Amino acid sequence: MIEIKNLVKKYGSGDNEITALNDVSLKINPGEFTVILGPSGSGKSTMLNMLGGMDRPTKGGIIVEGEDIAGFSDRQLTDYRRTRVGFVFQFYNLVENLTVYENVGIAAKLNNNIDKVAECIKDVGLEKRMKNFPNQLSGGEMQRVAIARAVAKSPKLLLCDEPTGALDVATGNKIFDILKRYSQSDDTAVVVVTHNPDIVYMADHVIRLSDGKVISDEITHS
Ligand SMILES: Nc1ncnc2c1ncn2[C@@H]1O[C@H](COP(=O)(O)OP(=O)(O)OP(=O)(O)O)[C@@H](O)[C@H]1O
Ligand SMILES: [Mg+2]
Repeated sequence: MIEIKNLVKKYGSGDNEITALNDVSLKINPGEFTVILGPSGSGKSTMLNMLGGMDRPTKGGIIVEGEDIAGFSDRQLTDYRRTRVGFVFQFYNLVENLTVYENVGIAAKLNNNIDKVAECIKDVGLEKRMKNFPNQLSGGEMQRVAIARAVAKSPKLLLCDEPTGALDVATGNKIFDILKRYSQSDDTAVVVVTHNPDIVYMADHVIRLSDGKVISDEITHS
């Protein structure tokens, strides 16, 4: 479903040029729980940003459902981000003056999924907190809201950048369980960047990056 072909991403120019991704090729399938591991600076976030259409590659292709998003116009890329990709970040990025219901609602509206909001919140176990504001929730609860928000638009691709980076181990494991559950739906690919190698046991696909290159790419379950 998603194929990255000879992807290169450079930042800056001249003496300041940094090659964040250096000829990366890989495939990601729907129904897969993909984990990306690698040291700080190895290009993990850059890779997610490329997949999510938040930035453009310097070279190479990103084929999503038969279309190369690297060749998309700004408008097509905006539409791609809004409707086809869900994002979950380390620090949740919730809108502080909107309730849980409203935070999830604004994302759901992008895909005319407003009828799904309550169900998405229930799926992460927060049905009793719909009217609360983010600052009334724990970190783990805020991350569950962020996940509900990301999946409320029924994305093809759910991209998570260190989703448990600010949580304790037990709470983080609950978040991973929720993400794993979403990956089991046939039309969603879940890609998680993490520093936690313990999570490899629940992955279907493990990609290791080092210095902008793929150093291993393994399908671990099938
Ligand atoms: N917008 C940018 N401008 C300049 N350099 C950048 C930019 N984004 C990333 N880089 C550089 O690209 C390299 C890869 O960064 P990236 O954020 O992808 O690493 P990472 O694997 O996500 O690291 P971490 O685990 O610390 O989050 C780093 O050297 C970083 O400084
Ligand atoms: Mg990063």
